[in-house]
Amino acid sequence: MLVFQTCAAGYDGVPVFRSVSFSVGEGHLYAIIGRSGCGKTTLLSCAAGLHALYAGTVSRAGEVVHEPHPRIGLVPQDPGLFPWYTVARNVGLGLEIAGLSRRSAGYRQRVEQALQSVGLLHCAARLPSKLSGGERQRVSLARTLARNPDVLLLDEPFSALDALTREALQDDLVQLLSVRRIAAVLVTHSIEEAVFLGSRIAIMTGRPATLHELDSEPAGKPGRWSRTDRAYAEQCRRVRELFAEADHD
Ligand SMILES: Nc1ncnc2c1ncn2[C@@H]1O[C@H](COP(=O)(O)OP(=O)(O)OP(=O)(O)O)[C@@H](O)[C@H]1O
Ligand SMILES: [Mg+2]
Repeated sequence: MLVFQTCAAGYDGVPVFRSVSFSVGEGHLYAIIGRSGCGKTTLLSCAAGLHALYAGTVSRAGEVVHEPHPRIGLVPQDPGLFPWYTVARNVGLGLEIAGLSRRSAGYRQRVEQALQSVGLLHCAARLPSKLSGGERQRVSLARTLARNPDVLLLDEPFSALDALTREALQDDLVQLLSVRRIAAVLVTHSIEEAVFLGSRIAIMTGRPATLHELDSEPAGKPGRWSRTDRAYAEQCRRVRELFAEADHD
């Protein structure tokens, strides 16, 4: 469980967002839609313990987050893989930094499991240059999963991908969240992605930005929509309208 309580943060004393409050529980995903520059990455950096708040608290499982925590995983927009390391070594990087020996059985097992969960075990010995863009993105996700996070922060991780690859990765993510009981926050420009994956959807708008949560009914499970359903298209249309309204406030 991740909880934001009346949080504010910014740079050089100038707030980027203020009064941000929301929570997300295990198996759920909180989707935040916002224009470029509204403060989405800053918000995730605060949740990851990488950027200090001006006010409020972020807490995970009841404990205030002050610094990076091993169970809070951030998947950045840019996969940022080391080109001279194999896929397996890239995935194990977080474990190495945490002090796990590359020769230990635990290390190998966690790397293999993480690669398996994104369907890339067969690529373990390759260099990143021998992967497609979508596969690199999955390696980046595996690198975060190897540390066994219970909170996953996703910074537009699929935005550089073509529509079909993007949908395949969204489906993978739905599976992962449910099997591993992870609480996730996803920031995105895509209304369709937010609707498909979000248990709840919020719009980040204004300067300093605030969050407008869209639905008050109980949070639904990610992946409850079928992309070909009329109800899904209707929900996307509704969210688009609400976004346009909130964006003009
Ligand atoms: N290190 C920094 N120092 C000063 N200002 C910054 C810094 N990083 C970001 N900003 C500013 O803070 C604001 C929010 O930036 P942020 O990266 O959080 O936006 P974003 O919503 O993630 O945008 P995008 O969708 O383009 O990734 C922007 O106006 C940006 O210029
Ligand atoms: Mg950003």
